[in-house]
Amino acid sequence: MSEPFLIGEAMTGGYGAVDILHACTIAVEPGEIAVIVGPNGAGKSTAMKAVFGMLKLRGGQVRLNGEDISALTPQARVAKGMAFVPQTQNIFTSMTVEENLEMGAFLRRDDIKGTLEQVYELFPVLKTKRYQAAGELSGGQRQQVAVGRALMTQPRVLMLDEPTAGVSPIVMDELFDRIIEVARTGISILMVEQNARQALEIADKGYVLVQGANRFTDTGKALMADPEVRRSFLGG
Ligand SMILES: Nc1ncnc2c1ncn2[C@@H]1O[C@H](COP(=O)(O)OP(=O)(O)OP(=O)(O)O)[C@@H](O)[C@H]1O
Ligand SMILES: [Mg+2]
Repeated sequence: MSEPFLIGEAMTGGYGAVDILHACTIAVEPGEIAVIVGPNGAGKSTAMKAVFGMLKLRGGQVRLNGEDISALTPQARVAKGMAFVPQTQNIFTSMTVEENLEMGAFLRRDDIKGTLEQVYELFPVLKTKRYQAAGELSGGQRQQVAVGRALMTQPRVLMLDEPTAGVSPIVMDELFDRIIEVARTGISILMVEQNARQALEIADKGYVLVQGANRFTDTGKALMADPEVRRSFLGG
């Protein structure tokens, strides 16, 4: 087995003295979509925070392209090519759409116009609303702003915690199509999803987390076909 592009390996840790993650392992390859599913409180968001450096690990490692980045701050991980869209409060509602996207590029010293245009090509509605306060947008459009903002750093890994939370099925399909499009450019997608069936359908790899531990890991297709996964986690 060769080294995955990004791996959080045997991650153990939590908040204060309480461990939430128990030797949890999550990995993703370039151009691949990896999806984390599991019940509420399973530790999905905690696993994402751990991979992004927002949680001190008591055990395990995070490696990017073979390099141990476990000690790096989130900002240093952004500089290494990681971008994270958290589950909540992922945009600045009082700022315009374009200001939000510009904020995403805060670490860059080069010209960001080309990337801005790429984001507007991916999400055309954002261009038409570029001077509007992001807080005035619909739920689905706000998620587009959040994803677009993350893309402004030109990441190699895009981490999304429930990007389709609170949006209609049509908007969800739309957003998944855009995420597939992003993955096809070679970016790794690591995503937590509440809409487990739909997400596993587009997943190259799926992780079912339960109580902070890996319960099932397989291709999205194989997980969807597994009777036990279906019964326990996909509603039959
Ligand atoms: N900041 C925090 N401080 C203390 N405990 C926390 C904190 N954030 C989460 N937890 C606890 O950690 C456990 C895992 O939470 P986490 O948010 O990772 O779950 P999740 O799988 O993302 O759930 P959901 O599907 O509801 O988003 C829960 O028991 C939660 O109460
Ligand atoms: Mg969560």
